[in-house]
Amino acid sequence: MPSDIWKKLQKEQPVNLKQAFAEDKERAKTFSIRTEHLYYDFSRQLVTSETIKLLCELAKERDLSGKIQAMFAGEKINKTENRAVWHVALRDPSNPEVSDVLKKIEKFTRQNKLTNIVAIGIGGSYLGPEYLAEACRVYAKPGMNLRFIANVDGTDFAQKTAGLKPEETLFIIISKTFTTAETMKNAETAKKWMQEKLGNSPEVIKKHFVAVSTAKDKVAAFGIDPDNMFIFWDWVGGRFSATSAVGAVPLSLFLGFENFKEILYGAHWLDQHFLNTPMEKNIPVISGLLDIWNINFLGYKTRALLPYCQALSKLPAHTQQVEMESNGKLVDLSGKPVDIDTGEVVFGEPGTNGQHSFYQLIHQGTQIIPCDFIGFIEPQYPVGKASNKEVTHHEELMTNFFAQPDALAFGKDDPLPHKRFPGNRPSSSLLLKKLTPFTAGLLLAWTEHRAAVKGFIWGINSFDQFGVELGKVLGIKVREEILKHHQDPSYKPNNLMLEAFLKGKLPD
Ligand code: F6P
Repeated sequence: MPSDIWKKLQKEQPVNLKQAFAEDKERAKTFSIRTEHLYYDFSRQLVTSETIKLLCELAKERDLSGKIQAMFAGEKINKTENRAVWHVALRDPSNPEVSDVLKKIEKFTRQNKLTNIVAIGIGGSYLGPEYLAEACRVYAKPGMNLRFIANVDGTDFAQKTAGLKPEETLFIIISKTFTTAETMKNAETAKKWMQEKLGNSPEVIKKHFVAVSTAKDKVAAFGIDPDNMFIFWDWVGGRFSATSAVGAVPLSLFLGFENFKEILYGAHWLDQHFLNTPMEKNIPVISGLLDIWNINFLGYKTRALLPYCQALSKLPAHTQQVEMESNGKLVDLSGKPVDIDTGEVVFGEPGTNGQHSFYQLIHQGTQIIPCDFIGFIEPQYPVGKASNKEVTHHEELMTNFFAQPDALAFGKDDPLPHKRFPGNRPSSSLLLKKLTPFTAGLLLAWTEHRAAVKGFIWGINSFDQFGVELGKVLGIKVREEILKHHQDPSYKPNNLMLEAFLKGKLPD
């Protein structure tokens, strides 16, 4: 049964942005949050002060603060797996377990002489670290090379190892469980690749392979020296693990340990903001509540993430896992089917590339897609000079960051129907000073907490992912079928396409 507050929100009308801005000259100020490191403007969301008030009341009714505190206290809030959800502890300088692992990583990083780092992992053991690596590439240590292999498609392995000298290469096998099929296959191939070139001596594996995992025995069984293993804990979920050894090992090698620490400081800053700021001024809380407003009350179930920053090109992919693996859930915490929409589809590309691709649908399509714009005052690379006649590359980029939200919000009338822009399309804008390891960490934590806020309010478990299991199990059966065919080429599977695949030709 929907609560009274939920019913009140159902009765709230979305504002007309043109009118709202005309009537209230202070709207941009009222509907924004200022902090030392970021400015969050949500004045172009279809909300009134009453809507925000009701959304905060909904959060109180669902005990959002209590749930946030339970998460920070390390309580076992992931009920189906009986685990804590404690990634915030990874950024807490006072945690001794975490400090010990970081010290080991620091020492290893300082001693490392290998310059080609290849990280093998998938999902949470890949997307967060890759986002951070791209965001901070400009800070990379001179001469260091970092590549990621995630896909079990041999193309990924072949292309990422192409041109690498084995004697200069270090493979980092990253897997929480050390059982993930794709990662194990790529890891075995990496071992063969290395041994074919440098020989079978255990010293080769010792020097050229390290692991990041929670599964010590499996790492040892693979042949990696326990001294070359960096641990994390079952209270770190895969998609929330970028600030554990999962990110720390490849990123410290690539960027230097000091820069990785900056990532932790940025994430910790946002963690503290999330824990200690009243709801109305709390950026992850308000952004999560606005998502709920858009999804559950306006029916806008897809969100575009549009960083006006090339170095944030991998943020949408990471956000997809965080949002969609966390909140795509059919049942609530008590196991009952949910009776509201949960989860949202997230997609995105760096501006301005997206403008020349899918923005047509965002501006004039029949579905409404709330947008998140992210921009920076300073560029990572100052390309071009400003003059009376010319703008720099960064200024050119930012013209779009300022223009697009207005085009979406206010639209344009035109006598020709195909040139009309309906407007009233919601967006939020996040402005930061500069993309650094610190702000990259801060954006990572914002992404994590925003997804958690929604799960807390919907009453679902955002921290398990049983939805990925069935496909994996069926995959095992298909692998068995393929092996049967290897043993007996006359074996015929009961699947037309699989049969064709095994015969190596399309079905007749
Ligand atoms: O398939 C989903 C998943 O379990 C993710 O949640 C996880 O991030 C990924 O696989 C990789 O898992 P692991 O780190 O255990 O290899």
